[in-house]
Amino acid sequence: MKLIVTGRIDPRVIQQIREQRPDLTIKYWNQPGIMSRQEFLEWAKCADAMITMLTECVDQELLERAPRLKIVSNMAVGFDNFDLDALQRRNVLATNTPGVLTEATAELTISLMLMVMRRLRDAEDTLRSGRWTGWEPDAFVGFELRGKTLGLVGFGRIAQAVCQRALSFGMKVLVFTRRLVENLAPGVRQVSWDALLETSDVLSLHVPLTPQTFHLINRQTLSCLRPTAILINTARGAIVDEEALADALTAGTLAGAGLDVFEKEPLPRDSRLRQLSQVTLLPHIGSATIETRLAMAKRAWDNVLAYLNGQRPPDLLSPE
Ligand code: DGY
Repeated sequence: MKLIVTGRIDPRVIQQIREQRPDLTIKYWNQPGIMSRQEFLEWAKCADAMITMLTECVDQELLERAPRLKIVSNMAVGFDNFDLDALQRRNVLATNTPGVLTEATAELTISLMLMVMRRLRDAEDTLRSGRWTGWEPDAFVGFELRGKTLGLVGFGRIAQAVCQRALSFGMKVLVFTRRLVENLAPGVRQVSWDALLETSDVLSLHVPLTPQTFHLINRQTLSCLRPTAILINTARGAIVDEEALADALTAGTLAGAGLDVFEKEPLPRDSRLRQLSQVTLLPHIGSATIETRLAMAKRAWDNVLAYLNGQRPPDLLSPE
């Protein structure tokens, strides 16, 4: 049996795999940078199981190259890099890593809000480049989170963790999600989509990327936001139409944005977003903590191990 691992996961988990299943042959990516599509297709040929990163697209083409494949375990909660229908047609199991990256992603979401609202990027750049001339009463003056209204799009684990943190900053929280949410904490209200857009000071996205959420934030939805509002995206880039976002920011109909994810990653050099000082851009680091990346790798392995032991993987995506 051969397991391939397409990214540089914590070596402690490689060790754990070797100890728990000495019968497995492991081939893992330990070179700098990301594995190319060509390499991925090549490696897949002999794989019985795979631990994949969100950068690997598991589609029909890949499956045709991987005749022995039985399980693909994504080291991410998002799985828009998987063609679930194709996997199901081939009877290949698919899993993800929910739960373990909630806190890290929530922390980064709040960090982005603070970076944009308190103009931290600008302030740090000014100091670092030697342009800081001393304390001035009107320099780098931003806004406080306290008293502002946070609008959450989606109310899964990460949104709930953001909500808790936002409340402790003294924010009011509005939630938009299709299911009825009961027992919301004081200071939190479930509202309609229109009400969410019209009243949020900070709009933060916490839904998966699906055909329904593709470009959910577009010209029309952006036009409903307050000109003083900011947009935060730590979910998936393609939920936002970046051209429409750049237009809104340029026209001043939206005050700022904090983005950790992009329609195309890495963000193209010629992206207009790079030119806009009211935008904070981070390189998809929501889950990038030692603790969380270790937990993600372990969880991804636990799913494979369960399968190898004849059990149901805990995070199975296609129950049939
Ligand atoms: C995920 O898990 O989907 C994040 O985007 C990366 O950790």
